[in-house]
Amino acid sequence: MDRLNVALIGAGAIHTCHVEGLRHTPGVHLTALVESDREKGAALARRYDCRYYVDYREMLRDKDIDAVHICTPHYLHREMIIASLTAGKHVFSEKPVGLNLLEVSLIRQAAAEAKGRLGVCFQNRHNPTSQAIRQQLREGSIGDMRGMKASLTWSRGGAYYTDSGWRGRFATEGGSLLINQAIHTLDLMQWFAGGVSRVKGVVDSTLLSDIIETEDSAMAMLRFTNGAHGVFHATTCYSTDSPLQLEIHGERGLLRLEESRLWRITENERTLLACDAPPEGDAKCYWGDGHQQAISQFYAAVREEGKDDYATLDDAARAQAVVDALYRSSQMRQWVDILP
Ligand SMILES: NC(=O)c1ccc[n+]([C@@H]2O[C@H](COP(=O)([O-])OP(=O)(O)OC[C@H]3O[C@@H](n4cnc5c(N)ncnc54)[C@H](O)[C@@H]3O)[C@@H](O)[C@H]2O)c1
Repeated sequence: MDRLNVALIGAGAIHTCHVEGLRHTPGVHLTALVESDREKGAALARRYDCRYYVDYREMLRDKDIDAVHICTPHYLHREMIIASLTAGKHVFSEKPVGLNLLEVSLIRQAAAEAKGRLGVCFQNRHNPTSQAIRQQLREGSIGDMRGMKASLTWSRGGAYYTDSGWRGRFATEGGSLLINQAIHTLDLMQWFAGGVSRVKGVVDSTLLSDIIETEDSAMAMLRFTNGAHGVFHATTCYSTDSPLQLEIHGERGLLRLEESRLWRITENERTLLACDAPPEGDAKCYWGDGHQQAISQFYAAVREEGKDDYATLDDAARAQAVVDALYRSSQMRQWVDILP
């Protein structure tokens, strides 16, 4: 296959991770940038030596473009994904693919008729520690899973929301902590356990309740399909961005992720299994170093049938189902079942 020409829509905070990811992926080329802020978009297009569009629909008419990366605010994802797939492009979208499961099902209809692939950016799956956890669970090194706990304590101040036209509002972000930050943690939990069957949780705004209409804190119990249960706590009201703490309790020991290091702890041993390196360039530590991996695996799948080591719409739907169920559970103060 010849070189793949890529267009990136939305040149905000995360876009540099995509630019770097593309730069490190052989056979792909950043050919166009779409950005509604004309001054920023034109300047960046000059820096990247690529075409510039202000309107993504005009870019989609460009037959040279093979694939589109979507890095815009959440409320634009569904329409941009569907339009790009309908125009015959491959799509690599930032999470979440939509504001809720209803939007995911609309995307599913378009994806079923499209010939392009749709990949979703759950880059933390590619962390060495995540890969090692999956391998340990596959090998059964700690026996059957009994439980899992995760604690995500990050810091997002008022300015993060007030300086942005879309964050902190249901109509444009779809929620905050759960759908934006903790969706990665919930995705890892459901991926490690092989699915979530029901949840009960409390989701609320605390420190930022005067600033955002969405949530900044959450706690929940999860019941996994393998019968184990999960304890989840997350907030963006801490004073710094701490590395994710996650522990899996098995019948013969623990897998413990702390300080970006994965340990296996049994009665007789404490073994360091893997370590996540800090990301390069402009990327923030808490985003991890996985964008390059996620992007190169996606293009490996685009190029070669059968190479499917990337997060698909089905994966995104599973994470979104947990997020949606937690919002619903908190409103109703009840357990909410998640359909398989
Ligand atoms: N995977 C991760 O770890 C990670 C980390 C941060 C952000 N994200 C995701 O990336 C996406 C963007 O987040 P961000 O923090 O970069 O947001 P941002 O607000 O910094 O950037 C969004 C950009 O999109 C542009 N834009 C808005 N409407 C547009 C339109 N119609 N056409 C073209 N450009 C448009 C804005 O001008 C802005 O430059 C979100 O989905 C977010 O959840 C993912």
